[in-house]
Amino acid sequence: MSNYIVLGAQWGDEGKGKIVDMLSAEMDMVVRFQGGANAGHTVICGDEKYVLHLIPGGIVSGKAVNVIGNGCVVDPVIFSEEVDYLLKKNVVVNPDKIIISLQAHMVTPVHKYMDKVLNKHIGTTGRGIGPAYGDKITRTGIRMESVLDGTFLERFCKQADNARILCERVYQTEFLDIKQAEQELAESVERVRPFIKDSVEIISAMVKSGGNVLFEGAQGTLLDIDHGTYPFVTSSSTSIGGALTGSGVFVDFNKRIGIVKAYTTRVGEGPFPTELFDETGERLRKNGNEFGATTGRPRRCGWLDLKQLQRSFIINGFNYISMSKISCLSGFDYIKAAVDYDVQGKPVYKTFGGWSEEVEGATSLEQLPSACKEYIDFIEDYLNVPVGMISTGPDREHIIFKQPLF
Ligand code: IMO
Ligand code: MG
Repeated sequence: MSNYIVLGAQWGDEGKGKIVDMLSAEMDMVVRFQGGANAGHTVICGDEKYVLHLIPGGIVSGKAVNVIGNGCVVDPVIFSEEVDYLLKKNVVVNPDKIIISLQAHMVTPVHKYMDKVLNKHIGTTGRGIGPAYGDKITRTGIRMESVLDGTFLERFCKQADNARILCERVYQTEFLDIKQAEQELAESVERVRPFIKDSVEIISAMVKSGGNVLFEGAQGTLLDIDHGTYPFVTSSSTSIGGALTGSGVFVDFNKRIGIVKAYTTRVGEGPFPTELFDETGERLRKNGNEFGATTGRPRRCGWLDLKQLQRSFIINGFNYISMSKISCLSGFDYIKAAVDYDVQGKPVYKTFGGWSEEVEGATSLEQLPSACKEYIDFIEDYLNVPVGMISTGPDREHIIFKQPLF
């Protein structure tokens, strides 16, 4: 029996999708415990590429039961679209394969609209995440169980009415066409209905029976509502604590995998001490194809920030590092990583020698240039956690194992 958790150690987009997919082949269950359709997990399997936002990455491998836990916020419209997308790609999707928690909160068109009205300065994904969690916390949210008990429409109309008044009287902006929104939502809610179940019991039964369970984090630790760069964060607990509240089951995670991109990226606004505004940053963006999977926005790029990572490791207790996108660092004369901040809060860098060799697709350590190995070894020493896995490209086979996962 093993319980795995995979979390982004930076600002999201660390490459969680690939690892989740790799692990999923061995899993009986994959659980998402926070966030919603703001996530953008890219899974590449053979020649097929899948971009998922809401449904756990385990759906692609076909074996695992996929749970959208109570800590998530679910947009029925996007859920239905994602089901259609997967069916079109011949992935098996049915209520035995995907479960939505009764206690998860619903993201409605009102939330998506209010996200645009209220959160422009944060640079959110516009998926209604903040307003949906806001309603949850102020106890005015709509849980998925309201679809089953028949109160959903009444709750939605009340929510829409309150938001309309707020828009008209406080923000002095027009409101969305609520009749159209209601119709669209009601249609997709009907499609979501068979998937809604008591996820706590289902996860608990699986954990008790000794099955392999993987908890799939979305976003990254530095976007955590408590531990991230507030207020430039997402609205959920993206770190390890969120996995317990967001699934409702105590799990003793034996493999706590931190996904670390070999450099840093960030989408949206907020502090980013190692950000590069020059052609080096531009090159990282190009090498790493750093454009958002959810919004298509160019990602901000910069050097690795070990000081930030150190904090992320305190929060999550990682005992295994999976490093991604090392191949995107080929061809730089030198590479830097922040190892501290000075009194003004500016990063203090350590400079490493670069390497010109192509490492994309490498499958053994021997294939890595020595400068590349030195960079990885330094990270491992600094964080005092083994780099167990190094991803060297988008394909499943593009991986070096330094330490087995199973
Ligand atoms: P994955 O799972 C990167 C960022 C947004 C914005 C802030 C708040 O692909 O790693 P929100 O819509 O969540 O209220 O936006 O968080 N953000 C992400 N950045 N990857 C993500 O997910 C993100 N999800 C949200 O850009 O700055
Ligand atoms: Mg993403």
